[in-house]
Amino acid sequence: MSDSEETQLEARLAEQEAFEPPAEFVEQANVSDPSIYEEFEDDWPDCWERAADLVDWETDYDEVLVDDDEPFYEWFVDGELNASHNCLDRHLDSRGDELAIQWEGEPGDTREFSYAELHREVNEFAAALRDLGVEEDDVVTLYMPMIPELPMAMLACARIGAPHSVVFAGFSADALATRMNAADSQFLVTCDGYYRRGDALDHLSKADDGLAGVDHDTTTVVVDRLGDDHDHALGDDHFDYDDLVADHAGADVDPVTRDAEDMLFLMYTSGTTGEPKGVKHTTGGYLSYVSWTSHAVLDVKPEDTYWCAADIGWITGHSYIVYGPLALGTTTVMYEGTPDHPDNDRLWELVDGYDVTQLYTAPTAIRAFMKWGEEYPDRHDLSSLRLLGTVGEPINPKAWKWYYRHIGDESCPVVDTWWQTETGGMMITTLPGIGTMKPGSAGPPLPGVDARVVDADGEEVAPGEAGYLTVDRPWPGMLRTLYKNDERFIEEYWDAYSDSGNDEWIYFPEDGAKIDDDGYITVLGRVDDVINVSGHRLGTMEIESAVVDVEGVAEAAAVGGDHEMKGEAVYTYVILEDGYEEDEETRERVIEGVEEAIGPIARPEEVIFTPELPKTRSGKIMRRLLEDIANDDELGNTSTLRNPDVVDDIEAKVTGD
Ligand code: WT7
Repeated sequence: MSDSEETQLEARLAEQEAFEPPAEFVEQANVSDPSIYEEFEDDWPDCWERAADLVDWETDYDEVLVDDDEPFYEWFVDGELNASHNCLDRHLDSRGDELAIQWEGEPGDTREFSYAELHREVNEFAAALRDLGVEEDDVVTLYMPMIPELPMAMLACARIGAPHSVVFAGFSADALATRMNAADSQFLVTCDGYYRRGDALDHLSKADDGLAGVDHDTTTVVVDRLGDDHDHALGDDHFDYDDLVADHAGADVDPVTRDAEDMLFLMYTSGTTGEPKGVKHTTGGYLSYVSWTSHAVLDVKPEDTYWCAADIGWITGHSYIVYGPLALGTTTVMYEGTPDHPDNDRLWELVDGYDVTQLYTAPTAIRAFMKWGEEYPDRHDLSSLRLLGTVGEPINPKAWKWYYRHIGDESCPVVDTWWQTETGGMMITTLPGIGTMKPGSAGPPLPGVDARVVDADGEEVAPGEAGYLTVDRPWPGMLRTLYKNDERFIEEYWDAYSDSGNDEWIYFPEDGAKIDDDGYITVLGRVDDVINVSGHRLGTMEIESAVVDVEGVAEAAAVGGDHEMKGEAVYTYVILEDGYEEDEETRERVIEGVEEAIGPIARPEEVIFTPELPKTRSGKIMRRLLEDIANDDELGNTSTLRNPDVVDDIEAKVTGD
């Protein structure tokens, strides 16, 4: 393309606000008939049988939805199935020799597993877990980076009916201990370490530090990822993964029959209070929902080489690296490392090398690619790609268009998928074979999903106005409760409108949004005290309690400030006790304290010392004001403050005036 053609194209793209799905894609799409929206509406809730039909049931369900104990909805009631059977056994006849997992380590080492091979190893590890004493309904914690043993362990747990609780490997020892204690989990599967930007990172010491904070006996399995690059010793209650699997070579473990509503896994996520929430997902509803959305939105077909470049430590990886793709019998790609190692074209090298057909990633990554420049994707042949997806935070139209053009060559639909840990799977997005795409707007709710934008009284707002996102009907992939805390489940998600005379059970995701005349929803971001750093969810309370634990800190506030690459970054405002200096050393201790308590993702961008925090007359910290200061925005009304003068002091510190 000549320079002037290039400039013209750029100008056209910058103006264009709507994009039609490419005809070539539509022709082959799993779902391309627009009548699906009406069909789901007319036939709700039975429309969800279409999702359930994508999985194998040992016993058919009697009822699609039971809602006589709201909001404790039950889906596919009395149905029986096993998730490991669905992701493995049922594919053996037709696809036993086809690849289930295509894995690449950061140093470039590769491992691949056919469905038959994956089935074999999952059986062996399931037998080993049983031998170690894991029984049905025991929670097994998995604290592992992106290595094949992580999905294997998940499926082994599912096979024997033991719910897993995956803790993101980047989380700290403290975070691991908190989650194992909260779930009363007596089993841990972890590894010696992993590669990150060329270094062999020790992970086991962190796991052991975490175990020291667990208040009950534990049994631990350790995968040897690093071999000679990192020697490690095993404690008395530690077992080597390879030894265990070898001891159970050839073992067959029958998949345990699970009730549709039995827990498949727990996933801890951040909320408004300091305690992480144990989101409970079930076997029948969740598996059906992620299979359906993988089919309808990601257009997954068995012959694809599909890649979701997320981490399995988050819900995205659970739903769209492991359960959805494997349930549909496709090849799922896993990569251990970062996109910039050894160079900024690592992802494109993988797409090219494996002929990846779908790529699902996050806006934070796309913004980084955009910054690095198109020379990196241009080095590779990306023509195998058929669909692109994004998830985790709002994507600005500029990044969307860059992705569409430089990665998708204007021939792949882009699905901007809004959902949450709690929703289990996608909720708001265009269907790639049907919907016009509008960059920056996720799209309409999926068929059968009743998402709306309402004001503080629960009334729907006019198009273009900002309001709160709600989901007015249950869906199969929804969380069922917060583990061992039904009360908090209701409080956090359901009773937002019960005071306003509306006694309906409406789900409240804690996001702000607006809707346009075509019913497209643009998600604006969290309305609670949750910060979204690079698509990762962090609670301000968790950060604040980590800061207050630092010696010399009297009080602290954490807020999210805009950040070019991360979307949001953590800003902490700190009041010191008498006798401590507002110096670099203290600043570093604060940063280290947060990293130790939560993990490097929570690392504060700025530590701002202040003599006071802006508070309302009733003593509540005015976080919004602190956000405005962090963003250098015009400040909102400060007249309700008990101590309005403090604002000038803090502003002066931030801007250095
Ligand atoms: C929060 C959920 C969904 C898996 C990854 C994050 C934000 C997510 C989008 C999107 C705008 C989005 C919301 C949501 N979010 N996807 N496409 N557009 N915002 O899961 O950690 O549970 O976070 O991420 O604020 O509430 P999570």
